[in-house]
Amino acid sequence: MFALRSQLPATKAEQYSELIRQARALLEGERDFTANAANLAALVFHSLPDLNWAGFYWMKGGELVLGPFQGKPACVRIALGRGVCGTAAREARTVVVQDVDEFPGHIACDSASRSEVVVPVVHGGRVIGVLDVDSPTLRRFEADDARALEQLVEVFLASTDIGG
Ligand code: SME
Repeated sequence: MFALRSQLPATKAEQYSELIRQARALLEGERDFTANAANLAALVFHSLPDLNWAGFYWMKGGELVLGPFQGKPACVRIALGRGVCGTAAREARTVVVQDVDEFPGHIACDSASRSEVVVPVVHGGRVIGVLDVDSPTLRRFEADDARALEQLVEVFLASTDIGG
């Protein structure tokens, strides 16, 4: 079977609009933190091409601890300020890494990862975690990918009860 071209979103922007719409629909009516994080990680991993890992780390006791994800088993704890995740969390900003070998302190959980984007999850003015997305391809992520992932994090925050 092949899809009619008219049924496929034509541009990357349209594909991301569709993904954000799907995320809203997927999380709608459910406010559980773990369930929504797990489903969003799965949606991202299975919707975006050329990824080898997608998931969350949550701030616990001053460090990042592995949360729901899709991909190979990963490092469980990351100190604030360490690696791409710890940098995004400490600086409360999205970090796009075009080549992980060029990022000082990159933590190689999956040796297949070549590029990476990490979006902080900010609630009530503080970073409660990060969304980390990895690709086996160099320079996989551009600014529009980062903006779309930020929007997906916004959908998560708007749809989910955030504890403590
Ligand atoms: N590469 C990340 C660690 C997490 S894994 O990629 C899943 C980092 O440098 O923070």
